[in-house]
Amino acid sequence: MLEHGGNLQQAAQQYGRPLTEWLDLSTGINPQHYPIADLPAALFHRLPAVADSLHAMAQAYYGASHVLACAGSQAALQVLPRLRAPCRVAMPRTMYQEHAHAWQQAGHSVQFFERLPDDALLQQCEVLLVCNPNNPTGQKYATETLLAWHAELAQRGGWLVVDEAFMDSTPQHSLASHSGLTGLWVLRSLGKFFGLAGLRVGFLLGDPTALRHIAALLGPWTLTGPSQYLAELALADRSWQQATRMQLAVQSAKLAQLLTQHGLTPSGGTDLFQYLQHPAAQQLHQALAIHGIWTRYFADPQALRFGLPAEADWPRLTQALGSMAV
Ligand SMILES: Cc1ncc(COP(=O)(O)O)c(C=O)c1O
Repeated sequence: MLEHGGNLQQAAQQYGRPLTEWLDLSTGINPQHYPIADLPAALFHRLPAVADSLHAMAQAYYGASHVLACAGSQAALQVLPRLRAPCRVAMPRTMYQEHAHAWQQAGHSVQFFERLPDDALLQQCEVLLVCNPNNPTGQKYATETLLAWHAELAQRGGWLVVDEAFMDSTPQHSLASHSGLTGLWVLRSLGKFFGLAGLRVGFLLGDPTALRHIAALLGPWTLTGPSQYLAELALADRSWQQATRMQLAVQSAKLAQLLTQHGLTPSGGTDLFQYLQHPAAQQLHQALAIHGIWTRYFADPQALRFGLPAEADWPRLTQALGSMAV
């Protein structure tokens, strides 16, 4: 099992502090999640409906002509490697690690690059995979660059896979509207921006024939009835989405400013987290943990990721940072 943010159990055990006393900043999940509606009991009683109306909502929200709902984008990223014979796959070294893991487990050879793939790597690989924006570095890729990579790969039967789990704040940079192209896959998640990680809803956007094939592989009832119901409400609620985009941008800028004031200038980020490369990242992580603040530590390169505090938790973070000699 790979390590992930949100592993508060580990924090509680390691530092002897009860679970309820932690401020968890170790994920990039919106602390102010989409409101949970009262659920009709029938949703729990009946088999889930075919996801047609959820698909229609998602098509409208993402601006994509074909989508497939999955139990989180994790389910989608795990199935993609099973659709190809072993091949060469290129992706950034510092990225959500589940991708490399899934491709390696399915027998593919993964080659890593630092910021951008060079021409030789682009020509050698059959699949190129990026997160846009990247988790945890926040690196962004221009639409033209991604489409040029896709064109290069698609002409020899290759794929470009773009994980847009953190794209909801900046839909203008999404490749969703291009996702009907052969050899282009886009992954989306309701876990981050909507703050509904526990709902396990994500989408794979791609060409319709390939999506039908994946739907058959995944089988019926991949999403629970309650999940579908809440996901439809979240995807349809344009005013919540608009207000949230504005709030997250403000909060993330506030977090970057707070860290900077304490000598911890972020090296990148998105509207849902800030990323700090720092030679003393491990000591910082431990010092914050002693204050009951859990961040995501990365060993290589030495770095921390800070998620956004909820409104009431800012003073606690400010105080902890103030009391640490950096
Ligand atoms: C970049 C990225 N992609 C995909 C996922 C999987 O998210 P989910 O399965 O909740 O949609 C995560 C979760 O942390 C992530 O960070």
